[in-house]
Amino acid sequence: MPTTIAAPKTKTATAAEQDFLPLQGTDYIEFYVGNAKQAAHFYKNAFGFQSLAYSGPETGTKDRVSYAICQNKLIFVLTTPLRPNHVVAEHIHKHGDGVKVLALTVEDATSAWEETTKRGGKSYLKPTTLSDKHGELVMSGIHTYGEVVHLFIERQNYHGPFMPGFRKWESSHRPADVGLQYVDHCVGNVGWNQMNSWVKFYEDVMGFRNILSFDDKDISTEYSALMSKVMSNGNGFVKFPINEPAEGKKKSQVEEYLEFYNGEGVQHIAMATNNIIETVTDLQNRGVEFLQIPSTYYDTLLDRVGHIDEELQALKRLGILVDRDDEGYLLQIFTKPVADRPTLFFEIIQRKGAKSFGKGNFKALFEAIEREQEARGNL
Ligand code: FE2
Repeated sequence: MPTTIAAPKTKTATAAEQDFLPLQGTDYIEFYVGNAKQAAHFYKNAFGFQSLAYSGPETGTKDRVSYAICQNKLIFVLTTPLRPNHVVAEHIHKHGDGVKVLALTVEDATSAWEETTKRGGKSYLKPTTLSDKHGELVMSGIHTYGEVVHLFIERQNYHGPFMPGFRKWESSHRPADVGLQYVDHCVGNVGWNQMNSWVKFYEDVMGFRNILSFDDKDISTEYSALMSKVMSNGNGFVKFPINEPAEGKKKSQVEEYLEFYNGEGVQHIAMATNNIIETVTDLQNRGVEFLQIPSTYYDTLLDRVGHIDEELQALKRLGILVDRDDEGYLLQIFTKPVADRPTLFFEIIQRKGAKSFGKGNFKALFEAIEREQEARGNL
């Protein structure tokens, strides 16, 4: 038999071959909410989202309504059931408003489902082709922590506004966007001692890597603690930090979340901007409420992070936090919970080289959260 010597594989080709679940990024995030019409209005007015698409009785979906809204690469879907005996109604009854779907864009939704379910992922939706006059879209899905699911969306053969079942949502109310660009990361809160089994799930079932870990010494205040591990897919486009509570003198923010969400779920979604000062100024002018950091935080800021391009006074006025790692720095700020229960909130982040998550801000941030917890009587 003739021997042949294979040409050496390029690093990229090898990495692509090994990645059994190549992800192109976050496709959309679907929230189950008590009143989708009003939630859509809130995210348009307060966060600068634009009307994208609508699904409901008028489009042939009799049991629910969904509003899809977008801002640059971000897409949110807000869904409300129209009848009490409905799986979405049960979700809202149990959890309040919250995230149900973290949808990921793939080239092949069938392969994504096959590869993840054969590695132990629990199927939520078998590969299903949806079509309308704009083309075909294939979706499939698996369960993750709590009642959250990952949908795999294959949309290269679909050219409509969002997906089959939706029609374009034309609205004359078009508040300007605030410069939010894409999902940077989505954080899950899981129960006591559950972090490592979900880390293993993302490693084994989805081929993610654990890129950073924080223990209770990194993330603790005088009163409470938590642990966190950051999971990333192969190309780094999708990052899911997982938090679990740790023992402290008082109740940690993760415990408060688990109690009020009535289980595990999405804690926060970080949205990226290219100009955090402009974005946060807009958001504050539109009534978005952020956690307050003591002004003493800024007294030593430049000693900690060195030179930054932004004006310190503007950061201080807006309450924006800064942290540096080996590769650069990042600016971040956190909203208060966006619904009535102390559960889901948002992070606004601008990365200037840094790929980390603001470890240097954890203490100041968690103390700010504890002040809010205490005001609610939950510390
Ligand atoms: Fe975050």
